[in-house]
Amino acid sequence: MKKIALTLMLVIASVGAASADSVIKDVMKKDFKPEDAIAKKVGKGEATDAELDTLIKGVAAISAATPSKGDKAAWGVKTKALSAALAKVKAKDASGMSEWKKAVNCKACHDVFKGK
Ligand code: HEC
Repeated sequence: MKKIALTLMLVIASVGAASADSVIKDVMKKDFKPEDAIAKKVGKGEATDAELDTLIKGVAAISAATPSKGDKAAWGVKTKALSAALAKVKAKDASGMSEWKKAVNCKACHDVFKGK
């Protein structure tokens, strides 16, 4: 009985780890890449409050996940800059938009944190 419980725990732990790894990819595919992705709407000033909330949650999720490449602490700094800019955009703080455009640079982030 003990052995079964232990096996179950190991299975759950490994499933948890696998889904953590795909968090960044999922958020990228849904909220960053498409032509009408929320991340792109934010830059054009077209994202609604509900869309901003969705993106804020997505960014929080990727911030907690581990990127395929690069330093975890630097990843935290980078993703917190995205969160902070989004919070300002939502609060209609004028500096939010320029901070967002700087932080959301796809290539600058991929060069450092995106593995193969
Ligand atoms: C904060 C850093 C960061 C920014 C900004 C960022 N990305 Fe990413 N992106 C990543 C990382 C990291 C990965 C690799 C996923 C992994 O490591 O698990 C990735 C992967 C992707 C992928 C591949 C998903 C897959 O299926 O494998 C696409 C597409 C993508 N990003 C699009 C974009 C676009 C478009 C932008 C700009 C509008 C962007 N990203 C901005 C960090 C970022």
